[in-house]
Amino acid sequence: MTLLDIENLAVTFPVQGGPDVPAVDGVDLQVESGEIHGLVGESGSGKSVTARSIMRLLDGAEVSADRFDYRGEDLYAKSEAEMRQVRGDDIAMVFQDALSALNPVMTVGEQIAEVVRHHGDVDESAGLLSELRRKYVTGTRTSAASWRRAVELLETVGIADPEDVAMTYPHQLSGGQRQRVMIASALGGDPDLIVADEPTTALDVTVEAGILDELQHLCDEFGVAMLLITHDLGVVAETCDSVTVMYSGSVMEHGRTDQLFENPAHPYTKGLLRSIPEQAPSDGELATIPGSAPEPSERPDGCPFRDRCPAAFDACSDPLPEHVVDDGHVTRCHLYTEGDDPEVSWDGPTRRASEVNGAVDDRTTATEVTDG
Ligand SMILES: Nc1ncnc2c1ncn2[C@@H]1O[C@H](COP(=O)(O)OP(=O)(O)OP(=O)(O)O)[C@@H](O)[C@H]1O
Ligand SMILES: [Mg+2]
Repeated sequence: MTLLDIENLAVTFPVQGGPDVPAVDGVDLQVESGEIHGLVGESGSGKSVTARSIMRLLDGAEVSADRFDYRGEDLYAKSEAEMRQVRGDDIAMVFQDALSALNPVMTVGEQIAEVVRHHGDVDESAGLLSELRRKYVTGTRTSAASWRRAVELLETVGIADPEDVAMTYPHQLSGGQRQRVMIASALGGDPDLIVADEPTTALDVTVEAGILDELQHLCDEFGVAMLLITHDLGVVAETCDSVTVMYSGSVMEHGRTDQLFENPAHPYTKGLLRSIPEQAPSDGELATIPGSAPEPSERPDGCPFRDRCPAAFDACSDPLPEHVVDDGHVTRCHLYTEGDDPEVSWDGPTRRASEVNGAVDDRTTATEVTDG
């Protein structure tokens, strides 16, 4: 079943005294129930804006879409009160920086307990006497059942001594522990979907691997779906069932992870794959894509990637097409209107590219070596 179904999402930020910023333009995104869906792309491609549009946390932005359904209901037709309910009970968000997302003056146990209590699936009827004792003797406002659930959740997300950690404040914990706390807090509302915006980007690789494992395991165990935002295709390969590749506000390609990695269709996806050690061609060097993405207000007409694409040709200034590569695997590249298996060479500008765009002649490849 499709949990989240977004079609043709556009998000524009009005800017006083300057041109508006069309941050996201024509994005389709589907997340199936129970799956981990990766949303990948370079910095500035619109991943966080897309994520926040799902929580309706885009103050001041103009948001439009042909469809924006969660469980078949239009999220943008809901009242703010109904939306608060969705944020508490249905969709939870995990951010990159737990230190700023968590409350600094509340123990982590209390914070998780509050989510649990708000969700309302614990029996808090401990009796007036014990309520009073808890409040005035122990000094904690948190009631017994939700506190127990909080400790349980800390254990669930792999915290070694949950009872002790529950009583600490966010700044007393390591970065990895804080991310786990935020995940526990997200699970406290028993959501069907977790939107995780680069949840492990700030951590070192071993801690990252542990947390990604945990997330995968939790999604399996609780049947929770996740939209996992990352700029790292290696993370997608390890963790995700399917993936949407974004570039400069648009979707370039989407499909199941195996389809995308075995048979990448878009030149941008092919370029990204060359930059991860496991996927680069054995004879080639690890290389990032030369150049950088345009600012939203300076995007060219048609395909936003065309100025960096080694296979760009005349048609690329036309609106993005949609080409079905395989069942569930779609690319938005003009090359496919001509035939099914166009040649894309990342080993240097192709003739077609240099014919169309003089600027590509001095483009170099393998400018930077990334290692994992
Ligand atoms: N509040 C805002 N006002 C104006 N422009 C914004 C605002 N928020 C985001 N943008 C612009 O929207 C575009 C997409 O930003 P977004 O944060 O979604 O990128 P991202 O893919 O999450 O990048 P990163 O990997 O760096 O997190 C960027 O050009 C950004 O500058
Ligand atoms: Mg972001």
